[in-house]
Amino acid sequence: MSKFFLSVAALLLSCVIASAQTPPAPSRWVNQRGSELLVLTADGQGGFSGYFTNRAAGFGCQNQPYAATGKPVQNKFYFVVTFPECNTVTVWRSIIVGNTIRSYWDLSYVDSAGTLRRANGTDVFTRAP
Ligand code: BTN
Repeated sequence: MSKFFLSVAALLLSCVIASAQTPPAPSRWVNQRGSELLVLTADGQGGFSGYFTNRAAGFGCQNQPYAATGKPVQNKFYFVVTFPECNTVTVWRSIIVGNTIRSYWDLSYVDSAGTLRRANGTDVFTRAP
């Protein structure tokens, strides 16, 4: 096989193996609901931690920073926030596109009958100065 084809094969393989782009530390991101993700530390392998402040209308636990941790999985990254006072946990499955983070989120809670329920939606975060 020629050097050219070996190089192309290596490039394709590295694209398949490469994990997702994750937000740099430090960086600040605000979504369309006014909520903020503040990334403060990165572990050098795509993992990161910081704080999420919820400002979305119709949700509880507002205007208080909660610990957020994230990590890459294949071509996406996930970040997770527990809201202890609201007894809920939200996971965002995300990709970075330019100056935005596009996310699907999944919020888990227990209803009044004791059944585990989930709510979901989308968030788009834009990088803030
Ligand atoms: C709660 O009400 O259970 C805690 C706050 C949840 C806020 C959710 S998380 C997904 C969505 N995006 C936001 O910016 N806020 C809501």
